Amino acid sequence: MSAKSDKPVEDRLIDPIASDPGYNETETRIALEGHPIHAMSVAFPIALSFCLLGADLLYWWTGDAFWARAALWAAGTGFLFGMLAGFSGTAELLLVSGIRSRAAAWTHAIIAVTLLAILGANWGQRLYGFEEAVLPYGILLSGLGAIMVGFTGWHGGKLVFDYRLGTSKGK
Ligand code: HEM
Repeated sequence: MSAKSDKPVEDRLIDPIASDPGYNETETRIALEGHPIHAMSVAFPIALSFCLLGADLLYWWTGDAFWARAALWAAGTGFLFGMLAGFSGTAELLLVSGIRSRAAAWTHAIIAVTLLAILGANWGQRLYGFEEAVLPYGILLSGLGAIMVGFTGWHGGKLVFDYRLGTSKGK
């Protein structure tokens, strides 16, 4: 015979992930004086992805090779700074148990890696002729990159502001 509980069924269910002892350990480990390096470094690939699209649009409009060269640099530096940001984010994801156990953190990682692949492809194809590369594939990849950086950044912000991942619990 089993004893019947008066509690509603939702209160009797146990989430095995949330009951993990490390679930509430979400403070940043990859940090300078408590300031997360990932949050500091993501500004560069985000800004450069939008500069890249802007430079491509200006090249399309003016035909001035200056903008195609600017786009080449924005693509390369956006990709390399994105990789650096990705390393600190990946270290945070793997080392902090409360971040590692949340599905949302893995969703962010997958969207971010897709963005890095788009930025890398966009840079790589420009190395073989930066002017010819802009139309049509360069500008199409830049548009896709701008959409993906919007998703990545918005979702990363959700991790911090909704789930409070990588934040300090205060002293
Ligand atoms: C490639 C692997 C990546 C992983 C595993 C990753 C993981 C994370 C994690 C765990 C956080 C929570 C805060 C923290 O713990 O520092 C975060 C925040 C964030 N991520 Fe990423 N990330 C990656 C790449 C990127 C890239 C490439 C971008 C942008 C281009 C990006 C944009 C953001 C933003 C904007 C935040 C919120 C920062 C804030 O508002 O303070 N992430 N990411």
